Amino acid sequence: MELFFKQSGIHRLTLNFISPISWPWTNFKKVKIFTMSKNKLHKYERVKYLPNVTFSLFGESRPPASYPWYEERYQNMEKVLELGCGKGEYSLAFAAADSQRLCVGIDSKSHRMCVGAEKAIAHGLENVLFLRSRIERIKEFFVEQSIHEIWLTFPDPHPKKRTVKCRLSAAPFLDAYAHLLIPGGTVHLKTDSDLLYTYTRKSVEHFGGCVVQASDNIHETEDCTIGAPDIVSAFEKAAQSKGKTIKYMAFTLN
Ligand SMILES: C[S@@+](CC[C@H](N)C(=O)[O-])C[C@H]1O[C@@H](n2cnc3c(N)ncnc32)[C@H](O)[C@@H]1O
Repeated sequence: MELFFKQSGIHRLTLNFISPISWPWTNFKKVKIFTMSKNKLHKYERVKYLPNVTFSLFGESRPPASYPWYEERYQNMEKVLELGCGKGEYSLAFAAADSQRLCVGIDSKSHRMCVGAEKAIAHGLENVLFLRSRIERIKEFFVEQSIHEIWLTFPDPHPKKRTVKCRLSAAPFLDAYAHLLIPGGTVHLKTDSDLLYTYTRKSVEHFGGCVVQASDNIHETEDCTIGAPDIVSAFEKAAQSKGKTIKYMAFTLN
């Protein structure tokens, strides 16, 4: 079916049903069948062959130290993780600014990281790598107390009550970060969501962590270096154009 759509050049199809009675298996009057854009499909395919991208495989059990970020050439480098990296704009900028830091961008959407991984190769940035995985599994890929910084760049705020546990600053995630960070290592949050900003402060305090820096509008603070204001991802730009302020919080957990 997918092949048929691809060959016919149809990438999104909407079916309008005259009456639900004629379609007994559904109660919906209008069903949208989404197929992927050609561009997206190409990225899903290309990303599989990029040398700077690692895929988490189901059922695979490997010691964390066997992953590429622990190879000898990276041994003496500070390690920075960007969780929910999307196209990895922060990872790329951090890596370009300091060749002695190794940045690993992690996201579950491989077509997005394809963009960042290809840019890294085009710019000869060897100190940025990508991992396609759910953040929930992060402890499987990194050694205890081996990470210097973790950046949460515009994570989904999950406003609904039933998905609070999916917020990247919910207790089980903080627990994983505390396990991975070196003592005194920092977690940085950038967000356009008031809800997530407030929630994160409460969650960190409840966990026993310590908020060390915070701003509810990084572009209006006296300290113009707070929250890496010079790095602006596409998502961030879109939020700013809607009039949203950019919030930042740095915290420690151990
Ligand atoms: C709003 S986007 C922000 C992307 C990017 N950081 C930026 O600033 O443009 C959130 C990203 O987090 C990823 N994400 C959300 N929850 C995740 C999870 N549990 N595991 C892996 N990736 C996740 C999504 O796939 C998406 O790319």
